[in-house]
Amino acid sequence: MDTKKAKTIYPVINIIQDRWSPRHYRIGTITEPDLNTILEAASWSFSGGNLQPWYYLYAHRDTPGFSKILDSLSPNNQVWAKNASVLMVALAKKERDPGKPNLWSKHDLGAANMALILQARSMDIYGHPMAGFNSLKIVESLQIDTTVYEPVVCISLGYLGDPGLLDHAAREKELAVRTRKGLSEFSEKING
Ligand SMILES: Cc1cc2nc3c(=O)[nH]c(=O)nc-3n(C[C@H](O)[C@H](O)[C@H](O)COP(=O)(O)O)c2cc1C
Repeated sequence: MDTKKAKTIYPVINIIQDRWSPRHYRIGTITEPDLNTILEAASWSFSGGNLQPWYYLYAHRDTPGFSKILDSLSPNNQVWAKNASVLMVALAKKERDPGKPNLWSKHDLGAANMALILQARSMDIYGHPMAGFNSLKIVESLQIDTTVYEPVVCISLGYLGDPGLLDHAAREKELAVRTRKGLSEFSEKING
């Protein structure tokens, strides 16, 4: 959908302009080699001390694991995420060493998620991060050891479908123009 491409003022590289978070997927399969490529891209992200404090639990469509992740999503996410090809839970490792919290693990996980999603986009696979999920439910159903990991976001991956098939609320969001703050709203040159 060309309407979703970022309309930038400055010459931002294409892959960043072309990434967006869709809500309409068509049924399709992401092959294991493609998924491995996408996961490996995440691993090449930067991280404090190169600790790589991320962990991904994922499941393909039509598997019990997929249903477990789907069931933990908020109802407004379930409506469209059910058509994804893969659902993931992205976990941040809490400690760098026993008793020493890793204060940057969520920063690093976010960077890894972006690398993962950009790699996917280059393969015509669209990723959509979601914080709308029930953390307690997902911890229980996937037996996540919360002394080690914190579930931070879920991510859907899939191929674009027909936005016309979405329910009204999801379709409105889907067709909305993407906007961003201007540079002066989030950056400032330090004088002197
Ligand atoms: C931490 C995080 C949580 C998000 N949670 C949700 C969510 O629960 N449901 C949803 O539809 N989108 C969610 N999004 C997607 C954002 O709404 C989306 O990235 C933002 O509106 C910018 O749109 P774009 O990704 O298409 O550029 C989330 C994104 C992030 C990074």
